Amino acid sequence: MSTTFFEKPAASKTTANPLGLRGVDHIEFIVDDADQWRDFFRDKFGMATRFYADESTGVKGRRAHVVGQGRINFIVAEPQGRGPEADFMRWHLDRHGCGVRDVAFRVKDARHALTEAVRRGAKQVRALDEHAEFNGAAIATYGDTIHTFIERKPHTGFAPGYQPVPGVVEDGDIHFAMIDHVVANVEHMDEWVKFYEEVFGFDLFMHFDINTGRSALMSKVVSPTDGWVKLPINEPSSANSQIQEFLDQYRGPGVQHIALLTPDIMRTVAEMRRMGQDFLDVPDTYYDAEFDARIGAIEEDKEELKRLKILVDRDHDGYLLQLFTKCVFTRPTLFFEVIQRRGRALGFGEGNFRALFEAIEREQARRGTL
Ligand SMILES: [Fe+2]
Repeated sequence: MSTTFFEKPAASKTTANPLGLRGVDHIEFIVDDADQWRDFFRDKFGMATRFYADESTGVKGRRAHVVGQGRINFIVAEPQGRGPEADFMRWHLDRHGCGVRDVAFRVKDARHALTEAVRRGAKQVRALDEHAEFNGAAIATYGDTIHTFIERKPHTGFAPGYQPVPGVVEDGDIHFAMIDHVVANVEHMDEWVKFYEEVFGFDLFMHFDINTGRSALMSKVVSPTDGWVKLPINEPSSANSQIQEFLDQYRGPGVQHIALLTPDIMRTVAEMRRMGQDFLDVPDTYYDAEFDARIGAIEEDKEELKRLKILVDRDHDGYLLQLFTKCVFTRPTLFFEVIQRRGRALGFGEGNFRALFEAIEREQARRGTL
């Protein structure tokens, strides 16, 4: 039902880091209402409002808030006025609904990253934009998604025209440290695995096939050699696959989910639930004897896990705890994952597809519907 294969460490077909990437800089969402989505991330995800931009601050075509926590920054941007940027954003909204436009990477040198990416076969979508304190450039990836390369000089603001929002502190019970993984849904997985191998020098790190009987998907995970982000790439392997549903609803490839790494999932999820965030339901039967057999000894209190409906999956050298939000936008496309890794757990919770499916079957059997 679910098969995972770890790839052999590539006998370095890659030159470690050809584009000079240093991490995920931010993720940009094009949304219908920037204030509403700022409030959403502030109230349900405990994020602080860090920066603001619009025409009055010197950024044409958009109103945008930057919200974040730890090393995570999200831009939520809506179109403002007329002009090429605003028109493009309206087109993007009309085609895809709200969604991710940009998974932006911090780089050592934006000019080098752009030149090298293009030389390796990427398509440039934004020329180098140079400022005293900030340089940016962008390339296309799957669907209408892009990767911006951002080079920051020390001790500078977020981006030209983005003004700091004073007086915000991150002191709640919700703790996020960084983005753990960003998942793409595409039509042809291997095409994009090759893209990340050839252009970014990423390694194919693991792959898995999942078939629950109701939905089937295949996934391959690429990541930089030192693993600071993981990019699983899914393709549908059945007509009723949830991946195919995404491709239909989003009208093409795009970001399916973003996993936020927390050092304390129990407190974080308890507080998110208290603030009214919905998560995917987990039947109580998930925590039956099968759970103990599959997971073994863990540090967390099982009754508390069951109360908060947190999922657990064990792999090679540890285990992970995770939970998925429901789709957040009007179209059933994008959702978030809250994840905590214990030990050296490297997986993505593949075992939970099967465990959840079987738990639902036990629940149905108990109700007498099977
Ligand atoms: Fe995930």
